[in-house]
Amino acid sequence: MTDTVPLHATVRGTGLPVVLIHGFPFDHTIWDAQIEALSHVCRVIAVDLRGHGQSPVTDGVYTMDLLAADIAARLDDLGVVRAVWIGQSMGGYVTMAALRTLPARVQAVGLVATHPHPDPPEKQQQRLANADHVLTAGADALVEGMLNALFAPSLDRGADPVRHVAAIIRRTAVQGIAGALRGMAGRPDSVPALRAAQVPAVIIAGADDQIVPVDTVRRMSDLLPDAAFHAIAGAGHMVMLEQPATTTAALREFVMQIAAG
Ligand code: MLT
Repeated sequence: MTDTVPLHATVRGTGLPVVLIHGFPFDHTIWDAQIEALSHVCRVIAVDLRGHGQSPVTDGVYTMDLLAADIAARLDDLGVVRAVWIGQSMGGYVTMAALRTLPARVQAVGLVATHPHPDPPEKQQQRLANADHVLTAGADALVEGMLNALFAPSLDRGADPVRHVAAIIRRTAVQGIAGALRGMAGRPDSVPALRAAQVPAVIIAGADDQIVPVDTVRRMSDLLPDAAFHAIAGAGHMVMLEQPATTTAALREFVMQIAAG
């Protein structure tokens, strides 16, 4: 049996359960704009993954399957059997892990600035080295390098989304960062899971994403039988913060379609 931990979650609204899952190494507050807007049309459950935000921190490797199991346990607590899972980047890897390991819990998926492929060997080695480094050097060691890659090059480095994300990374526990890096390094190929998935999907890319290029995200839509694709102009990897209104509109339309059956 999987050793899950009780996740912190912001739960708002009523109706169709919709889980929002942040990327690495953030917390649920990256979705603040979407939590507010979507809570008028569905029941939003915005989680902090294990080792992030206000959720418990554990040692060890946070496999994507384990992070998905934590979410399923949180859904159990809320009496929710099936939900729409919407994940950004690592949150997308977790959503794809749910499709692989917990398909009965997934009613539909939103995949934001993410992709289904495993790490190549050199990227795995880099993640494992970064995990060791952060445990001694602290989260600050990650911040500058990450900020340069996370946002569209056109965004001013003093802008609110950049400051918000820098603050989140700085307060994330180093064990959480290391656990997630080690888990991402070992994640399997999710292409077969997407090909097998029989659920509706919305796929969102930042047109200027420097981490997951827009074409990589776009190709994912071809793997799913029923996927809507949006490339959002003027946004990088943190599309929900860089272009909150456009991102929210795409998610809201999707959620309302699912809720209408
Ligand atoms: C994320 O935003 O979750 C990360 O960029 C994912 C990754 O490093 O693959």
